[in-house]
Amino acid sequence: MKRTSQAGIDAISVYLPRTCLRLDELAERNGVAREKYIEGLGCRSMAVPAPGEDAVTMAWEAASSLLRDYEVDSESIGMLVVGTESGVDHAKPVAAYLHGMLGLSPECRIFDVKHACYGATAALRVAVDWCSSQARDNVKALVVATDIARYPVGSPGEPTQGAGAVAMLVGCNARCAVLEPFEAAVHASSVMDFWRPDYSSCAIVDGKYSVECYMKALERTWRRYKKTSGLELDDYDYLLFHAPFPKMVRKAFYRIWGMEKATAGEGDPAVTARAFERYCGPATWACCRTGNLYTGSLYLELASLLASERQRACGRRVGIFSYGSGSCSEFFSARIGPDAAWWENRTGVSRALELQREIDYPTYLEYRKTAEHMNTNGSYRAELTATGTHRQAVFLGIRDHKRIYSIRKQPSVRRQECSSHHGPAHIRQAL
Ligand code: CAA
Repeated sequence: MKRTSQAGIDAISVYLPRTCLRLDELAERNGVAREKYIEGLGCRSMAVPAPGEDAVTMAWEAASSLLRDYEVDSESIGMLVVGTESGVDHAKPVAAYLHGMLGLSPECRIFDVKHACYGATAALRVAVDWCSSQARDNVKALVVATDIARYPVGSPGEPTQGAGAVAMLVGCNARCAVLEPFEAAVHASSVMDFWRPDYSSCAIVDGKYSVECYMKALERTWRRYKKTSGLELDDYDYLLFHAPFPKMVRKAFYRIWGMEKATAGEGDPAVTARAFERYCGPATWACCRTGNLYTGSLYLELASLLASERQRACGRRVGIFSYGSGSCSEFFSARIGPDAAWWENRTGVSRALELQREIDYPTYLEYRKTAEHMNTNGSYRAELTATGTHRQAVFLGIRDHKRIYSIRKQPSVRRQECSSHHGPAHIRQAL
């Protein structure tokens, strides 16, 4: 078995729904002070999926941009793993739909990983180990995190909703982030902090308890990683913490800073606030405009860091904390690659934010209703007029209990339908 110390994330690309709702509008509708959502939770707006948009279409948007923008030969991809808790079928994985729509090789292994927001990190681990165990250096795995975060209307979780997908190419000569060779620190515990029963389209959450579970997992994994890696807080240049809402990142950083620095006389609030900006600021400028991406939220931070820091980030060390309710969490570290020209203008974060347009509260409610209907009704048909702009993949509806997806060719805006079990080579007649 070949071992390599350069395995990790070779390319990364983000997709966000093209519509969003401002949280000051949501606060007004919910009869809540706008400061609670904006300062208390740190959220300014949330991405809202449009009708015809689901975990599969978002995954396709992110993955196809990655393959195109980094000029990846799809034949080199020997494994596709999707981390998601927004699956569209109890048996058929999102990875199978995606494999067909991307036209990947029939020799590519495909599967989903589900463990709440931890799913993409588990997928990344499997992909890195798989690439490292292959005889050839140039094999790649594609990992995609794709989710829609949804809580009941008017509930405390509602302002933390969001949606989006992050695609990552994993390989042995990674140019974005090389995982460090220390043993990752893992903490698992069966808890009921956040879950979504099969019969519910919304997550159920014990909010305050979920924050406690997150913090406990963070403390444990931080301490253990410190022991196994020998790394101190000062050895990191950036820290990424799973972001269910931006204020949670601040809480996580303050906890670590308090554990490590309070006794060293650096617990002064102004010093802590400056340290937070230095360690976490470059990664958290986008998530306050997207809401929670569940599996993708941590990797949106990585993409945001690469996009904003560019050459400054090269060769720097990042500490990464992944948390999935239920629960499993992991702390690990990575080194950013040496050449920002590779990822500059390719992460897709700024473009995705630029393309977002605001919708009003009634439209948000209408989109929600459609999305819930989409997954409970076996005869669902999408309103083709409501599919949004700058988006190519559309979920058209269900026919004979089969989900039908369309990939719109740009710029001619020609619609082509492909059933889930056929690749582009077998694209069927346009609708
Ligand atoms: N002005 C300014 N700030 C205000 C305010 C006002 N008028 N009113 C309240 N606030 C502040 C509060 O002081 C509080 O800040 P601190 O936590 O720093 O004290 C913040 O706003 C939130 O207020 P509450 O604690 O009263 O909020 P809440 O009870 O309504 O809900 C929540 C907060 C529990 C996080 C809720 O949004 C929720 O359930 N979210 C979903 C669950 C979640 O995200 N859990 C995180 C850990 S689990 C995880 O990470 C997995 C995952 O992705 C889901």
